[in-house]
Amino acid sequence: MTSPIRRIAINTGGGDAPGLNAVIRATVLAAANRGWECYGIRDGFNGILCPERYPEGGVFRLTPDKVRGIAHLGGTILGTTNKGNPLHFPLTLPDGSIRETDRSDDILAYFAKEGLDALVAVGGDGSLTIANALHRKGLRVVGVPKTIDNDLDKTFTTFGFDTAVAFATDCLDRLHSTAESHQRVMVVEVMGRYAGWIALHAGISGGAHGILLPEIPFDIEKVAAKVRGRDKIGRMYSIVVVAEGASPLEGGRQVAEAAGIGHAERLGGIGERVAKALAERTGKDARVVVLGHLLRGGSPTSFDRLAALRFGAAAVRALDDGMSGVMVSLAFPNVDYVSLEEVAGRMKAVPMDSDTLQTARDLGICLGD
Ligand code: F6P
Repeated sequence: MTSPIRRIAINTGGGDAPGLNAVIRATVLAAANRGWECYGIRDGFNGILCPERYPEGGVFRLTPDKVRGIAHLGGTILGTTNKGNPLHFPLTLPDGSIRETDRSDDILAYFAKEGLDALVAVGGDGSLTIANALHRKGLRVVGVPKTIDNDLDKTFTTFGFDTAVAFATDCLDRLHSTAESHQRVMVVEVMGRYAGWIALHAGISGGAHGILLPEIPFDIEKVAAKVRGRDKIGRMYSIVVVAEGASPLEGGRQVAEAAGIGHAERLGGIGERVAKALAERTGKDARVVVLGHLLRGGSPTSFDRLAALRFGAAAVRALDDGMSGVMVSLAFPNVDYVSLEEVAGRMKAVPMDSDTLQTARDLGICLGD
């Protein structure tokens, strides 16, 4: 028999995604409607683990008033970080060197000391792996799937993805006219980490002629042939979308920053390589547009906003029903719950038998294979 809930905390970890504020709002309101208090942890778990950084308090009370009018706002009012993994926390020693340390017990101790009964952890793969570790240690935790990358398993989609795809599609729409006017190749690099969801969905929607995904190592010669083939029939421009995690057949994913203590590697730069290779092979002018963090900004689409509000409310219902160690998932059209164990450390890549991938092929889009 679990004790009744009176106070919960919520945090947002990893890269921000449109819809985070909507989750926070729904969680706070659903908690208040049950007579529970809700507290926000600043910057992932840093509000608890590094209190000295927060003279105004690393954890603060979230009343319904504090979450008024935020559902449509990008970012997160709690702040976030992808450099503060409590399981691999960077500890600076007196000699200035940095050692990795597990600070999960400090989080449990904080919850016990402050009388916090449960955590709503909003995050992607990294944050949900942390959530699962905390659950295993005895904390009551419910996860909410966030990421523009859509690479979380066991949910139809994550919130943030639709907004990123909509923005990337808009950018592609705008690039057609300038590419055509200049008879250029435009290479558009998009985020997505090791999964090609954003590239594939935006590429098809935005009428790209080539889409390069991490799931399909590409032969640059095939992409160049596609560009030359278009030129031959009088289509003197081409648009190629490249996922940041895509790599050529010969290997070599483009890493912008190596992994370090408490943080994963950062990808970026493959667009530049592809543009250069295409210019060399086709003799055409090629330009690169890196959409980067623009994909993470702006207002969530109504789809993401609604999904995020539903996820926040569902997280509170789960806690009210005595659940822990679960992630809210979208089992279209309803929300459902899956065990965090099934999600943590797993990545959802674009499946090779997906009809969306087949659609790209049927439309004549070059996938570099
Ligand atoms: O996971 C979201 C994401 O935007 C990835 O698509 C990208 O690889 C990464 O985060 C970038 O992280 P950072 O904010 O550290 O640049």
